[in-house]
Amino acid sequence: MKLPQNILYVGVNDHQIDLFEGLYVVPNGMSYNSYMILDEKTVVMDSVDHNFAQEWLQNIKRHATPDYLVVQHMEPDHSGSIAEFMQEFPNATIVASKSAFAMMKNFFGCDFEQRRIVVGENSTLQLGARTLVFVTAPMVHWPEVVVTYVPQDKLLFSADAFGKFGALDVDEEWACEARRYYFGIVGKYGVQVQNLLKKMQNLQMQTICPLHGPVLDQNLPYYLNLYNTWSSYQTESQGVLICYTSVYGNTKKAVLKLANLLEQKGTKVVVNDLARSDMAECVEDAFRYGKIVLATTTYNNDIFPFMKQFIHHLTERNFQNKTIAFVENGSWAPVATKIMKGMLENCKNLAYTQSTVKILSALSPESNAQLEQLAQELAD
Ligand code: FEO
Repeated sequence: MKLPQNILYVGVNDHQIDLFEGLYVVPNGMSYNSYMILDEKTVVMDSVDHNFAQEWLQNIKRHATPDYLVVQHMEPDHSGSIAEFMQEFPNATIVASKSAFAMMKNFFGCDFEQRRIVVGENSTLQLGARTLVFVTAPMVHWPEVVVTYVPQDKLLFSADAFGKFGALDVDEEWACEARRYYFGIVGKYGVQVQNLLKKMQNLQMQTICPLHGPVLDQNLPYYLNLYNTWSSYQTESQGVLICYTSVYGNTKKAVLKLANLLEQKGTKVVVNDLARSDMAECVEDAFRYGKIVLATTTYNNDIFPFMKQFIHHLTERNFQNKTIAFVENGSWAPVATKIMKGMLENCKNLAYTQSTVKILSALSPESNAQLEQLAQELAD
């Protein structure tokens, strides 16, 4: 990890966690990043999950006794060790937004009234050679969030922005787990992420220090462009995503046939079985590709549960700007297409293919012809 002189990493890796935020599988664990700035005044940037309080305090004490703890975000993966910190360092002061202190009262029964500095947009804190400039970033990912810019280093402590799943002692590609993290956790708040990106445009940027995942200090336009694409709900990758559920295999047969037809036409296809894939991977794929095929069965006069859950994940994250196609299966009264379309009706800027596929129990000459037609329309 490359950080400017006198900025140190004091975070921790969590390989014990089973579900991040109680929801997301993290096969490569999670990092809770925390940084120290050594200057005339010593600062710690954010705390860590409560389970790692002692490891984190040891990391800090190895270097110096801090004067300040900057709390950028109050979600417990970062705020969980604030109380231990304040006990360990009785002369330290917390620096945070007004709404962060209100949350501290709720989390800890105490808002550290005698030991705090409240900061807002463009507040500064002079450390000596360095200055901290606070920039509000509401809803990236909670309302109290501030990010912190250090002009002397052209460095941004970016809170959850530019974070990813995965501990720092595991080497893996950034974009895949950053995208799954982004759409899972911040995907609903594209407008607010855009607002932060606009503020960042006014700042010279050499290094981004997020609260999860690696420090970014090379090729920053790559990361900034991806964040711009994601937060403006643009298509990142060309291709067709097919997400399906299948009870007895007949819908799956249709999906595999459609995938095959598309591949024969030279179209990139990604196929996800919603019952057997990580839902967060399916969600990130839906935001990544521009053309999405939803294939499911009628079930209890509704749609199959995994598809219902999937569409709900999309709509609550402001799913938009896509071309959608439907494949439905039903043995006596198919309603799946109608229900899926109804669930998507409030999404902005969705186009629907002219061709749809209706399977009555199993593929037939009619539904096979509809698949051919749909493949052609999607490939065009
Ligand atoms: Fe990493 Fe929103 O906490």
